[in-house]
Amino acid sequence: MAQALPLRARDTGRGPAVVLVHGFPLEGSMWNAAADLLAGSCRVVVPDQQGFGASALAGPTTMATYADDLAALLDALEIDRPALLAGLSFGGYVVMEFMRRHPHRLDAVGLIDTRETPDPPDAAANRRAQADRLVAGEPVSIVAEPMLPKMASPDAPESFREHWRRVMCAQSPLGVAAALRAIADRPDSAASLRAFRGRALLVVGEHDAITPVADHERMASFLREPGLHVIPRAGHMAPTEQPEAFAEIVRGFLGV
Ligand code: MLT
Repeated sequence: MAQALPLRARDTGRGPAVVLVHGFPLEGSMWNAAADLLAGSCRVVVPDQQGFGASALAGPTTMATYADDLAALLDALEIDRPALLAGLSFGGYVVMEFMRRHPHRLDAVGLIDTRETPDPPDAAANRRAQADRLVAGEPVSIVAEPMLPKMASPDAPESFREHWRRVMCAQSPLGVAAALRAIADRPDSAASLRAFRGRALLVVGEHDAITPVADHERMASFLREPGLHVIPRAGHMAPTEQPEAFAEIVRGFLGV
């Protein structure tokens, strides 16, 4: 496997370190408003994952690549154990891989608008077919457009949808293709949740149409110390749509 390049990351604020991992096909900027709010009481680290935003793709990826990229970023920033490592959807899949590969570096995880189950075979096949089309030169809109109606709550303003449509469609086709293959190959993480000894924060938008509230109730049943929060008037990008509510939940979880 190709050597990973250092991730580009935003690193702001002082206090307990909170690492926020973005969803698919997105970039770290989806956390901007929440990070601004949290930076008054925490050190907030927000990477662009490999192949997204300003972080270059180094080669084919698996979930292990994204998790090990995060470990290398923490090393570079001299963060041994973050107070909270949280990921949204695809970011959550990466956090669950990090739980398997680097458990000694975790005190608490945040599983945000995500799920522990793997793709059913037809969904995985669809992702691999989309990856092939991107590699053949088709635009990221073939992936983004079918997802967009499910990303925000029904009440989200058109400007919100338009902004994130532009961000999604501006991602690198090869970066998105690599992630599609890695996501299609991800394992079932139920056993990893059961084995986890730390605290877990689960957050979901009340209108999440991709990873609904029931997915988070099921994940909570596998965890030793879960805190489950449903954010009203939010969809699959709950921390982006309702950043104040998300920041308050994180501050309450960390006691800051
Ligand atoms: C995401 O928001 O990261 C995606 O919904 C993940 C997925 O497609 O499974």
